[in-house]
Amino acid sequence: MNTSNSDFAQDASLPDIAQLTKLANELFTALPCDGSRIGLAASAVQGGVASKSAIPQGFGLPDEAELQKLLTPRQPSLASVPDSLDTGSVFGNPSSPAASPLAGLDESVLAGVLPHDFGLPDAAQLQQLLVSRVPSGSNIPGTADAGSIPAAPSSAATGSVPLSSQGNPISTATYGLAASMADFDASLIAGLTPQAYGLPGEAELQKLFGGSAGISASTGSDSSFYFLDELKTGGFNAQVPTLASAHPAFDVQAVRRDFPILKERVNGQPLAWFDNAATTQKPQVVIDRISYFYEHENSNIHRAAHELAARSTDAYEKARDTVAKFMNASSSEIVFARGTTEAINLVAQSWGRQHIKAGDEIVITWLEHHANIVPWKQLCDATGATLRVAPVDDDGQILLGEYQKLLNSRTRLVAFTQVSNALGTVTPAREMIEMAHRVGARVLLDGAQSVSHLRVDVQALDCDWFVFSGHKIFAPTGIGVLYGKAELLEAMQPWQGGGNMIADVTFEKIAYQPAPARFEAGTGNIADAVGLGAALEYVLKIGIDNIARYEHELLVYAMDALRTVSGLRLIGTAANKTSVLSFVLEGHSNQDIGVALNRAGIAVRTGHHCAQPILRRFGLESTVRPSLAFYNTHQEVDLLVSTVRRIQSGQHF
Ligand SMILES: Cc1ncc(COP(=O)(O)O)c(C=O)c1O
Repeated sequence: MNTSNSDFAQDASLPDIAQLTKLANELFTALPCDGSRIGLAASAVQGGVASKSAIPQGFGLPDEAELQKLLTPRQPSLASVPDSLDTGSVFGNPSSPAASPLAGLDESVLAGVLPHDFGLPDAAQLQQLLVSRVPSGSNIPGTADAGSIPAAPSSAATGSVPLSSQGNPISTATYGLAASMADFDASLIAGLTPQAYGLPGEAELQKLFGGSAGISASTGSDSSFYFLDELKTGGFNAQVPTLASAHPAFDVQAVRRDFPILKERVNGQPLAWFDNAATTQKPQVVIDRISYFYEHENSNIHRAAHELAARSTDAYEKARDTVAKFMNASSSEIVFARGTTEAINLVAQSWGRQHIKAGDEIVITWLEHHANIVPWKQLCDATGATLRVAPVDDDGQILLGEYQKLLNSRTRLVAFTQVSNALGTVTPAREMIEMAHRVGARVLLDGAQSVSHLRVDVQALDCDWFVFSGHKIFAPTGIGVLYGKAELLEAMQPWQGGGNMIADVTFEKIAYQPAPARFEAGTGNIADAVGLGAALEYVLKIGIDNIARYEHELLVYAMDALRTVSGLRLIGTAANKTSVLSFVLEGHSNQDIGVALNRAGIAVRTGHHCAQPILRRFGLESTVRPSLAFYNTHQEVDLLVSTVRRIQSGQHF
């Protein structure tokens, strides 16, 4: 519904601006504040935290009864609210016996907050006021797991579900009038920008009231992180925008709408993003989650007794929980790192330096990315250990018999990739791990290329470490994960020293935190860890098995189509492969092909893909490498193949 601000403001059922101003003035001067929200004894904060600075003085403070009287006649008039917007969870159910002094508050009173020109508090002050005024012990929604989301009203099934700006149904978490005023989420109105009549625009409201997908609350009353309980029970209701539901079965067009960058045009053509093995694009829900963090939660973590530190710590630790759930691990086994490369280096520098000595052997494979070669070669050079490499066949599949022969009592460590970034080969990880364990070796599995395509279950795989980068799975760059079995992490020494990873420091002796904190020295990438949590929740909601099925079909389609181009040689033809379509084209340099494809709006990678040994195994220094994600379409594949065909036939454009 396209309701203009002026229509909205002039609706007869809403108060006029003068009334609104008066009511809002009275409301904000009347709200109680005892400091309990931020865990401070009320007595320690004369008159309540922040109240004096934020409340405009001199209006006279109506008591609660007066306020009730003023507000009661103003029953919510839903007819005056745009029908694509549900304010139920914000304004509460008038019939519910709310404990809050805000109970019964007419939504229209708050609808226009806050025109600065009327001398009212600004949005930041309002946020502070409202957050600090939710009575302690109020009913804070827990983290938004699927089970706790109230069922959508039956209208959801009849097509009248409000839509977000992306066209997704608005979250069931914010849909319906089930929430009481005690669930009032002050953060939802924090970002309102008063427009012509002091009213927010519909787009803003849609966004603020749940138009984005997949983010769940970062602060829950049930969280058990590092903060004083009272900090968490006080009532910050971080009801950030949430994803409505999984897409029905697998709808690639619906998925594409979640990724704003896919609407870009390149050289006048629609962007076809086939560089997913290098990095993936980010859904709106991840972008929104990071913005939300900086708008409402930003603080350093773990070390302060103030509200924002509690919010950011909970958001960060909740992201760790999500990663753990995603991998079937426990949270204490999840270490945040910068990415796959850093996680591998961490293991090499920590466990490696503790356990590898001259005469030992480390086994890798020919398929490895440089990130899973260089740290082990460096470790071997430093310790006198030997690096041994399992070969592959002409399709790019590990020769399991040869791998078996490399394993012996000197093998301390096996490190290999679950999916080759240059060829797309899926290695038989479970079998290889079991074979390594039989000779007593530890196993690190590089999941950089598998994590967005295959289900990751570290228990079923039984790997000792699993590493991946957030940016390969729709999350930001600069954040990644090291999973390690609990007993291993506990026995590993820290590899970097600094703040956050210590329990106690004297000049004589340092005591370290248990894992995972002991491996997270210094201030980490907090916001992007939170973004990673949002990305994984998004993938979980779509369903990794749905993704894998769709991508497999697309890969087979693309391989078959590329095979029909004369002079084209596919590099990497393993029976079990995913995502990657490396090729070379007779008579054309890879670089020229990349440039020509770019002119048609098609993004592919050309080069050695940081995997020189495996390309040399095929007699090559580089390939053209389109790589798929679940937002790619058959039409895009057709465009890729027809463009390659034109390049092959000499049509340079
Ligand atoms: C298989 C594999 N391992 C490791 C890496 C390194 O990842 P990052 O650069 O994110 O640390 C990559 C990156 O492409 C990769 O594909």
